Amino acid sequence: MALPYKLLFVCLGNICRSPSAEGIMNHLIQQRGLEGQIICDSAGTSSYHVGSPPDRRMTAAAARRNITLSGQARQFELSDFEAFDLILAMDKDNYENLLYLDREGKYQHKVKLMCDFCTQHRDREVPDPYYGGEAGFNYVIDLLLDACEGLLAHVQQEIRA
Ligand code: 4NP
Repeated sequence: MALPYKLLFVCLGNICRSPSAEGIMNHLIQQRGLEGQIICDSAGTSSYHVGSPPDRRMTAAAARRNITLSGQARQFELSDFEAFDLILAMDKDNYENLLYLDREGKYQHKVKLMCDFCTQHRDREVPDPYYGGEAGFNYVIDLLLDACEGLLAHVQQEIRA
């Protein structure tokens, strides 16, 4: 496996869930001294919020766990299929939309549901917190902390293989 290993997190707007996954993963990577071996980015399937920073309610929930969110929303583009090693969809709609964009089915093996990597939660999707209250944003962070731990273990295995 060529380094750095490249991860792309994808949700609908790229202002709540996927920037959180990116921030949490970068936090774990830094904690474990893996900078330079794994790099992370995020994108949205929609163009609704292109150019916007992460949602302030999401940023606040992340800050309560000492995690910093950064970046500006961008829309997923077809070249991302080639550029990234693994593409993590936050929910089933995001997953289906990504597979639909891969017209020739060339990259299906790179696209996974983020919750496939959870070991402590039974959720199949990261719920969209956008129209809900603070508890929903906190839950996204807890769920993603679990998924990112599992994902990091998986990526480290891939790197060693
Ligand atoms: P995200 O959350 O996909 O986790 O960034 C959302 C952000 C915006 C909207 C929906 C979900 N929206 O409908 O504008």
